[in-house]
Amino acid sequence: MSKQRVKWVVGNWKMHGRLADNAALLQSVAEGAGAMADAVRIGVCVPTPYLAQVQSQLAGKPLAWGVQDISTYTHGAYTGDVAAEMAVEFGATLAIVGHSERRAYHAESSELVAAKARRALEAGLTPIVCIGETLDEREAGKTEAVVGGQLDAVLNLLSVQEAARIIVAYEPVWAIGTGRSATARQAQEVHAFLRARLMQKDAALASVALLYGGSVKPENAQELFAQADIDGGLIGGASLKSQDFLAICAAAKAASHAG
Ligand code: 13P
Repeated sequence: MSKQRVKWVVGNWKMHGRLADNAALLQSVAEGAGAMADAVRIGVCVPTPYLAQVQSQLAGKPLAWGVQDISTYTHGAYTGDVAAEMAVEFGATLAIVGHSERRAYHAESSELVAAKARRALEAGLTPIVCIGETLDEREAGKTEAVVGGQLDAVLNLLSVQEAARIIVAYEPVWAIGTGRSATARQAQEVHAFLRARLMQKDAALASVALLYGGSVKPENAQELFAQADIDGGLIGGASLKSQDFLAICAAAKAASHAG
């Protein structure tokens, strides 16, 4: 099954970057990405003030770009929020929604995240819907209930045609930024569960890309990406170093050939 699905590697810069650093990072990532673009879809999700920079530097290059959050509204009195259409004007094609840092620090509910996913699709963006359990939830044996509920909120709101266009990122909260990745086996177990949940909604959702995120590094990427239901990664810290990010893209390419 994994043979038919293309691999993805998406960088989530979070709140990192400055113009000069971005320019150097984007240049080397764009240079290195060319050789892998046939086998791997590569993208970067940047802080919104840098969309214009990314657009001008990546235009014509085999890289996608996007934002890390969007509003559920198209416009209006929502100070500080950014509409999906604004990102689209800068050539963005991706929007992360429901990252655990937004759920934790901005009290985003699964219903709000679902509304953001729908808004992204309406604007022509591909939402990368993040889901994942905390350590307490894992240790209490609640992983499937938590991630299943987070996914269901999105699947309940979207039509099958819309849901077929989303990307799902499984990011266990305990693995994010901790250096402690899920093992390939732990990640595959949850991905297999998510794949089954998607197919339960409709067989057409078998091809939804399921990315793993949480301390992905050049050293563990290939084993993770070789798992049957892991279609690539959402990369935080390692996406800020071009060498590491490109090594992770190369691991995705190797896994896609081996798959
Ligand atoms: P790290 O790769 O830094 O653990 O972050 C993962 C993440 O949150 C990507 O969205």
